[in-house]
Amino acid sequence: MSDEPDPVPARPFPTSARAPGKCILFGEHAVVRGAPELVLAIDLHTQAFVVPSAQARLNAEPSALEENPYFREAIAAAGSAGATFAVRAVSRIPRAAGLGSSAAFVAALSAALAAVRGGLDRAALAQRCFSVERAAQGVGSPGDTSASVAGGYVTLNAGASGGELLWTVRAPEASWEVRRAPDPGWAWVVAYSGLPRSTAEAVRAVSARLDRPDGPKVLAEFASVARAGIAAVTEGDRKETGRLLGRNQELLREVGVSHPRLEALLEAAAPVVEGAKVTGAGRGGSIVALPVAGREVELVRRLARAGAVPFPANSA
Ligand code: PMV
Repeated sequence: MSDEPDPVPARPFPTSARAPGKCILFGEHAVVRGAPELVLAIDLHTQAFVVPSAQARLNAEPSALEENPYFREAIAAAGSAGATFAVRAVSRIPRAAGLGSSAAFVAALSAALAAVRGGLDRAALAQRCFSVERAAQGVGSPGDTSASVAGGYVTLNAGASGGELLWTVRAPEASWEVRRAPDPGWAWVVAYSGLPRSTAEAVRAVSARLDRPDGPKVLAEFASVARAGIAAVTEGDRKETGRLLGRNQELLREVGVSHPRLEALLEAAAPVVEGAKVTGAGRGGSIVALPVAGREVELVRRLARAGAVPFPANSA
């Protein structure tokens, strides 16, 4: 943050930036406690347009500063002392669906606001986006915001086998290494159950579960499945990746973040997938599936018939 006067805009207005949503392939929840995670930025985006304005507005709404903590914190973190902006945000990412809509909003808006002041490198942008999301949400890891800033396949806390180091994101209580994993070029299918849910509530519930006496054992299993999952995706091994997705789902069930509607979707998908699981905070939201090659359309049909909103998800 800075209290320097605003410089002449580095780019002509309107300034805009675009950031992708994401789905978590392995390790959600456990990543908050430092376990490895594999996240894929997907080809659904949020775009933010920024223009100077006498009053701060989001999509013409003047009360957004009071009502939307992500907007408020992103504006504060951009350090544009005294300057106010009208922001238009356009998104194709369903909200509260486990697909990173808030991270993409924060990343697109923060990148556009940073561009006004001359830009930020990606590592600094990733740190800023995490700080904004943390301030707005109170809990969580930098997985979503870093995937949105980096694009493609991203690992957290995976050590050298998680790929080349992109950056380290810090919070007062922990830090997370973010790395670039190779892209196997696979088409995934994501399906939104239509059940919205709160990330913060799910994270707190899982955290209470992991504080029980067997918590360290469960956490170690999450970590070992994620580590093996990262290796399987890195090697392009679809069968093993599918098996590990199923194993990760068993652990998510065990910590209480599945839901009968999500289980019904997983069951509908089962005949035509290598593997599938809940993605994101769970208790609603979405599933992610790795289709048996050539059965993608059938998978999408099955999930739609089971009442979900399915779509093919490619790396972005
Ligand atoms: O459902 P989402 O997109 O908010 O994903 C949250 C992933 C968690 O691991 C549950 C929390 C986090 O911040 O890592």
